[in-house]
Amino acid sequence: MDIWFNPVRELDALLRAVAPAAGFGDEPFDPEIRPADPRFGDFQANGVLARAKALKKNPRALATALVENITAGGALDGAFVAVEIAGPGFINFRLTPAFLDAWLARYADADAFSAGAAALYAGRRVVIDYPSPNTAKQMHVGHLRPMVIGEAIARLLQFCGADLIRDNHIGDWGTNFGVLIWAIKNLHTGGTGAAGTLTLEALEDLYKRGSAATKADPAALDAARAELVKLQTGDPENLALWERIVATSNSAFQEMYDLLGVHPDVTLGESFYRDKVGRVYEELLRDGLAEESDGALVVWHDEHPRFSRNAEPSQPFIVRKKDGGSNYAGTDLATLLYRVEHYHADECVYVTDGRQQDHFQQLFLTAEKWFRAEKRPLPVLRHVWFGTILGEDGRAIKTKSGDPVRLKTLLDEAVERAAALTAEKNPDLPAAEREHVARTVGIAAVRYADLSQNRTLDYTFSWKKLLAFDGNTAPYLLYAVARIRSIFRKAGEQGAGSGEQEGSAGEEGQRDKGKGQKAATGGAADADSLPAPCSPSALETPAELALARKLVAFPAALAQACEELRPHHLCAYLFDLAGAYSTFNNADKVLVDDAPVRARRLRLCDRTATALTIGLRLLGIEPLERM
Ligand code: ARG
Repeated sequence: MDIWFNPVRELDALLRAVAPAAGFGDEPFDPEIRPADPRFGDFQANGVLARAKALKKNPRALATALVENITAGGALDGAFVAVEIAGPGFINFRLTPAFLDAWLARYADADAFSAGAAALYAGRRVVIDYPSPNTAKQMHVGHLRPMVIGEAIARLLQFCGADLIRDNHIGDWGTNFGVLIWAIKNLHTGGTGAAGTLTLEALEDLYKRGSAATKADPAALDAARAELVKLQTGDPENLALWERIVATSNSAFQEMYDLLGVHPDVTLGESFYRDKVGRVYEELLRDGLAEESDGALVVWHDEHPRFSRNAEPSQPFIVRKKDGGSNYAGTDLATLLYRVEHYHADECVYVTDGRQQDHFQQLFLTAEKWFRAEKRPLPVLRHVWFGTILGEDGRAIKTKSGDPVRLKTLLDEAVERAAALTAEKNPDLPAAEREHVARTVGIAAVRYADLSQNRTLDYTFSWKKLLAFDGNTAPYLLYAVARIRSIFRKAGEQGAGSGEQEGSAGEEGQRDKGKGQKAATGGAADADSLPAPCSPSALETPAELALARKLVAFPAALAQACEELRPHHLCAYLFDLAGAYSTFNNADKVLVDDAPVRARRLRLCDRTATALTIGLRLLGIEPLERM
C-alpha cells in the first residue's frame, strides 16, 4: 500500500470500488465514512446498515463480505490499517502507529502536501471572480470579506491543484457614471480639466452631491442621463473622464490589495464586455429564452417559484435595460461566455455578498438553459456568498456618524492595537521587528476573524476577541508557530536535531506567480539545519500518537474546505491541531537526552509547524519567527 495522503478519501474510494463484488448490488454505494469514537477507531463506515436494509440482507454478513474483499485484494495493508466489524454492522478503521510514522516521514514539507492535495482539483481550469469592487467609491469594511474570503479560496484551490485565474470583475460601467460626470462638469470648481487630480475621496463626495442634485432637479437628472448616453456612445471627453475615474479608483484599490495580499491575474471590468453583450441578446432571443418587455429584455424561469412570471412579486432576470443599455445581468452572461471561450473554464467561482443570491441563481439558471440550447458544455458554477459584518450593537458596522467604516481606517487601527500588544508582550524585540510583527498580527487578526466564521453567517466584529491570544484567533496560531520555531532555535544551540534530511521547504511568502503555478506554502521550522543525525524512533506516548493522528487529518480538512469552499473548516482544523500540539508539549518534553526520542518529537514539532504554516499561508497569513 502506498502511504495514503488522505486516508478518509482512500478508504471511501476502496469501499465503493469493492462493494459490487461484495454483494452490494449495482447501485453506487456510499460507505458514509465519519470520524469514530477514538476508543474504537479513527474512522467508521456506517453505510452498510442502510444498504443491508434495502437489500434485505444481514448487515454483519454484508460488512464481513466487504472487509474480506478489501483485505483479500491486498489493497489494505493490515500493518497500516486495522479493520474491525462492530455492533450491527459498522466498520471501524484504525491507523496503526506504523502508518502514522510512515505518513510523517513521507509528508514532510509543503511540496509533498501540495502533491498529495493536487488530486482534489487535478489541473481543472477555475476562474475565480473577486474582489470585484465598484469603482468611484472608497473601500469600506464591506470590501473586507470579498478580498479575504476570495483570496483564501483562491489559494486553497491552487494548492489543491486547480489551474487558477483570478479575475477582478470591477464595476466600472454603471449608471452612476452619468451622475458623476455631470457632477464633475457642474459641481467641481476645478472643472473637467482638474478632474485628473481628483482623489477617490473627492470623487465620492462629488457623486454624493451630484446624486442629491439630480434627485432634487429633473433637469439635472436629464442632463446626467445625457452624460451617460454620451459616455456609452463613445464621446471622447466623457470617455477620457471615465478613464481617469477608473484609474484613480484602481490605484486606491491597489493599496488595499497590497495590504491584504490580493493579486488578481486579470482585471476585466464590466466595461470590457460592453461590446460583447449584443451576441448574448441575439442568442437568448434565438433560443426563445428571453423576451422583450417594455423595451427591456427579460428572462423568466417559469419552473421556479420565485423567478416565474406568475410569482408575487415578480422578479424577471432583466438582461438589457429599457433604454437598450447593458446592465449587470447581461454583462454577467457575456462574462461567463468569455470565461468559457477564452479561458476554457471548467469551473467559475463568484465571491460576493449574500444579497446577490437571487442574481446568481437567475444567472446560473439562465446559463444552463442558454448553454444547453447552444450545445455548449457548461462549467460548474458556484456562488460563494457571505454574510454581513456586524458592529457590537448587532447592526451592520458603521462609524458614529452612520457612514461605513473605511477599510484603511480599520486596518490601521488593527496594526496600532497589535503594536500596543506586542510592546506589552515582548518589549525586547528590536523596533524594526516589532513593527513587522505588529503589522502581521494586526492584519492577520482581522483576516482570521473573518475566515474562521462560517462565511454564510453574519459575524460581530470585536477587537477584544480577534486580538486575543487564546481561542481560535490569529494571534494564538501565530504564537503556536513561533513557539515551535523557538524550540528549533534552542535545539540548534544544543546541537542536536532530528537529523532528518527532509523537512522544511522554507519558501518565502506567497506571491502571485501567475496561472498554473502552485500557491507557495513552504515548511516552517528548520530541522534541516540541525546537526547530529539520528533516526526518529517509533511514536509511543498517547500525546505523540494523538498529535500524529491530528496531523494525518490535515488533508481531510483541506478537502472539506475545498469541497464546500468554506475556509472556516481549515481554521477549525488549525485550531485543533494547535491544541493537540500544546497537549503534547505539556505532556512530553521534546529536548530530552535520548537522541531517537528527541528526534521523533522534533519531527512532530516540525510537521506541526509545517501544517500550521501551510494552513496559515492558505488563509493569507505569513507566520512569524518570533512575536
Ligand atoms: N461589483 C459587484 C459588487 O460590488 C460584484 C461583482 C461580482 N462579480 C460578478 N461577476 N457579478 O457588488
